[in-house]
Amino acid sequence: KSKVNIAIDGPAGAGKSTVAKKLADKLSYVYIDTGAMYRALTWKAQREKVNYNDEEKLAELLRRMDLKLSNSSAGTNISVDAEDITSEVREPSVTNEVSYVAKHEAIRKQMVAKQQELAAGGGTVMDGRDIGTAVLPDAAVKFFLNATVDERASRRHQEQLVKGMESDLKLLKEEISLRDKLDSEREFAPLKKAPDAMEVDTTSMSIEEVVNYLYDQVRKQA
Ligand code: C5P
Repeated sequence: KSKVNIAIDGPAGAGKSTVAKKLADKLSYVYIDTGAMYRALTWKAQREKVNYNDEEKLAELLRRMDLKLSNSSAGTNISVDAEDITSEVREPSVTNEVSYVAKHEAIRKQMVAKQQELAAGGGTVMDGRDIGTAVLPDAAVKFFLNATVDERASRRHQEQLVKGMESDLKLLKEEISLRDKLDSEREFAPLKKAPDAMEVDTTSMSIEEVVNYLYDQVRKQA
């Protein structure tokens, strides 16, 4: 059977990356974490003290940085100019500011071109906010993963506690809501369900249930 592309979009904390990674492994496809790319640019902008409103400077920074994604059993490793920033890009200081970098048209154009190149040969599971609508409008199967904001915040809270990190559930809920608002209301390629995407409410589903459900849908549709 030929290898197609699968798009997974949805709001922050809906379990997209965990599910996308597992689905890709099950299909022997490549997982592509587009959020990691926007996170890497945000990290670099912080390091170089580039103002988030300076679209031209950010675009220039993205053009000259060497951004690499690679897959490990745990997820996506990310490096910028040969420096491994896999854990740095998950810090709240990056997470809470990515949306301000990701809103610019000049940034999205470059990112989308890179992402389309990565998917050109098929056989990818790509997750993000605009995959079904802008990056891969012809993806063979599109999913929109959702869950209530309470559920998404509480999952993130549990994850952080398990890792031994400090975590404030109420603050997490506020941060997630703000990020969704910024991502949904931006002008260029906002977070939005593609008309032909299948919406999956994961609120009361386990990770395995979601993965198996998506896998069955892919088997049926692709
Ligand atoms: O998926 P993740 O939480 O890592 O994404 C981080 C941020 O990157 C999102 O909140 C959004 O602002 C941006 N993003 C985007 N388009 C994508 C993926 C991520 O704008 N395709």
